[in-house]
Amino acid sequence: MLLLLLYVNKIKNSKLSNSGELSYKWARNHMKILDATINKLKKNKPLEGITLGFCLHITKETSVLLMGAKELGAKVAACGANPLTTQDDIAAYLASNGINIFAWNNQSNKEYNHCIERVLEYKPNILTDDGADMNIKSHFVKKYNALDIMGSTEETTAGVNRLKAIEQKGKLRYPVIAVNNAYTKHMFDNKYGTGQSTIDGYLRSMNLLFASKRVVVVGYGWVGKGVAMRCKGMGSKVIVTEISAIKALEAHMDGFDVMTMSKACRIGDIFITCTGMINVITKKHLENMKDGAIVGNVGHFDVEINTKFLLKESKSVNEVRANLSECILNNTKKIYLIGRGRVANLVAAEGHPPEVMAQSFSNQILSILYILKNHKTMKNVVSGVPLEIDRQIAINALHAMNINIDTLTKEQKNYMNDWNL
Ligand SMILES: NC(=O)c1ccc[n+]([C@@H]2O[C@H](COP(=O)([O-])OP(=O)(O)OC[C@H]3O[C@@H](n4cnc5c(N)ncnc54)[C@H](O)[C@@H]3O)[C@@H](O)[C@H]2O)c1
Repeated sequence: MLLLLLYVNKIKNSKLSNSGELSYKWARNHMKILDATINKLKKNKPLEGITLGFCLHITKETSVLLMGAKELGAKVAACGANPLTTQDDIAAYLASNGINIFAWNNQSNKEYNHCIERVLEYKPNILTDDGADMNIKSHFVKKYNALDIMGSTEETTAGVNRLKAIEQKGKLRYPVIAVNNAYTKHMFDNKYGTGQSTIDGYLRSMNLLFASKRVVVVGYGWVGKGVAMRCKGMGSKVIVTEISAIKALEAHMDGFDVMTMSKACRIGDIFITCTGMINVITKKHLENMKDGAIVGNVGHFDVEINTKFLLKESKSVNEVRANLSECILNNTKKIYLIGRGRVANLVAAEGHPPEVMAQSFSNQILSILYILKNHKTMKNVVSGVPLEIDRQIAINALHAMNINIDTLTKEQKNYMNDWNL
């Protein structure tokens, strides 16, 4: 607690805040639809008297969402959604601008959990989560499960899956909007955002050539599709592993080699896990990899690769570059691990670019306002973003890019509705 206060005071006074301000402004300039949404709504201060609790990766894009929520009248408390992804200059900037921020880079798991609890101590009316760690505490830690929460929004696939599991057990105690499931979120953020920022993270960490390398993309969901597409664009020979026959078929039709991990592990040069599933790269897979193979993860949690084997059971582990651990296995083979197996695009780079986060966070702001207005009639279930919000964000995004589209003519509408043609 004392350490935390010292930390907050330190960052408030630090020069870091100036660099954070420049990054915030850069992001806001490139998040036009979020900026326009905030500017349009702020006159009426729709969030006045409301406390919002955020558990999100503290990046320059997130700072635009948090400052925007404050401009709409909310009291804002926020923590990181991962111990390694906070950008300290952004945390400093937010701290000096009235946001109650409990986040810094390179936290222990204990500090990370403590910061989530600090946010819950503000008694937030609405939560915005990324991965559901805050929601898990508000449901299952005794001192927080009496908090009067109107509802929550959830940013990512992994969090939506966890919250649906709570719902299925009949234990969800307030409504949740799965922002991840909006078309204008996962089709762009998960695919293009993670696609680009994963290349960025891997390059900053290893700075080796992608062209000619065999890259194994594990999982061909929204994230995997974006990552595979961008690796192909870099000139890599992309291999996909899957457990879903439909997704495997799609990857095959998209031109990728599809095989099992037990085969792929022997021939891949670079591995990128994108599944949200536990242990998709096992000890046995790691032992069978080529000497010098590089492994990393961009799924939400650090459970996809057996990092315990690499970091605790290797003969030696050396940090050979920033966010790159050289793990020398007992058979003297070297395997390189990016960002200790945590979201490589955020740990080794800066996460998604502002243009895609503008769509994701417009969904967040509008879903928060939706919960505020409708929570009394909403059921305690995980539901999607209302289609009218999703569609409006797509229209706003097109306008921001100066793109016009056609509308159906009267004749076409009649044609569509007539079965007797
Ligand atoms: N790093 C980021 O910035 C970022 C952004 C968005 C989502 N995510 C996270 O990435 C993960 C994937 O998200 P998504 O939206 O692509 O989910 P998704 O459900 O669309 O895709 C996951 C895919 O993994 C496959 N899969 C599951 N187990 C597997 C296994 N053992 N081997 C191979 N494939 C397997 C599934 O069949 C599915 O096709 C989640 O944890 C999500 O929260 C991270």
